[in-house]
Amino acid sequence: MLNIRVEKTQNPKKKPAKGDKLGFGHIFTDHMFMMNYDEGQGWHDARIVPFQNITLSPAAMVFHYGQTMFEGLKAYKGDNGEVYLFRPDMNAKRANNSNKRLCIPSIPEEDFVQAVKAVVDIDRDWIPDEPGTSLYIRPFVISTDDHLGVAPSKSYLFMVILSPSGAYYESGLAPVGIWIEDDYVRAVRGGIGFAKTGGNYAASLAAQVKAHDDGYSQVLWLDGVERKYIEEVGAMNIVFKISGKIVTPMLNGSILPGITRDSVLTLCRDWGYEVEERKISVDELIEAAHNGTLEEVFGTGTAAVVSPVGKLRYKNEVFEIGGGKIGELTQKLYDELTGIQWGKRPDTRGWRQTV
Ligand code: PLP
Ligand code: COI
Repeated sequence: MLNIRVEKTQNPKKKPAKGDKLGFGHIFTDHMFMMNYDEGQGWHDARIVPFQNITLSPAAMVFHYGQTMFEGLKAYKGDNGEVYLFRPDMNAKRANNSNKRLCIPSIPEEDFVQAVKAVVDIDRDWIPDEPGTSLYIRPFVISTDDHLGVAPSKSYLFMVILSPSGAYYESGLAPVGIWIEDDYVRAVRGGIGFAKTGGNYAASLAAQVKAHDDGYSQVLWLDGVERKYIEEVGAMNIVFKISGKIVTPMLNGSILPGITRDSVLTLCRDWGYEVEERKISVDELIEAAHNGTLEEVFGTGTAAVVSPVGKLRYKNEVFEIGGGKIGELTQKLYDELTGIQWGKRPDTRGWRQTV
């Protein structure tokens, strides 16, 4: 259990007004959580302080070698004013899986969740309550030693910042277009693809820019070795409904084990769908698109929630899915998941936690 010191802001910021367009990740609340790590001392000095800039040496290792980890989850405001988190224990576990791969000291899971809850509690008035909005929570660790040798840092900073946000995609729940990337790759097995760390996102930018320039929202990655098997999208996992079955790439070490992915697959299984987590070649996908058995495509992610995909581009071909409209199962999953997250539907699996 952390002993968290709290320093409240003397200059509260103006909160967005009802009806303001929030976008994603532009606005930050009044406070943030911080905790230091030093070799020999462990994690120490847990505190909540006013949101502010931090000072680091230009030699800080995070700037040079990217030894860093981040997480993403959301706080939701229910109709009765209660504040909910969705499966924060899963984020704490995944944070430590990333930490381990990156030689970052682990954070006790209960401390991670306590830190998140404490800072959300202090800034609970910042949680927007209009449909589709929530408080995006970004916990992260950076390596802070000022040292240019390539080695694990001996000091770190764990922080949690909060951002009132709307839909991740400007289009909201309207189907997005996805570019299947056959040139650049994001990750390979044995690398860091399964970890939530800056390098994976840096590696994704060039392809994303290319896709954006062509009017696509994100990139769908193929495996880094054969460029043949479907992996995941820039900020979400990908799920297909093919001939009535739910098919998604298995967790193979190079894709992120999404918490939304896990939740959506659980719902599908509970609803009686056959769910296959396996290798899917891009050829199989294209064949299914051609012969009409590709019924629905959607992405899953904390920021993206359940996002219908209405268009796929591979090499020079473009495939329309579901006439550009949201599929029936996609909509049902969106409604059930957000219903649980916002406290509007019963939570029979212990996924929702109250702050
Ligand atoms: N894949 C990538 C690359 C992501 O950045 C995210 C977002 O967190 C996801 C998948 C979805 O993961 P989750 O559902 O845990 O948010
Ligand atoms: C999330 O969904 O939490 C993410 O981290 C996606 C993101 C990279 C914006």
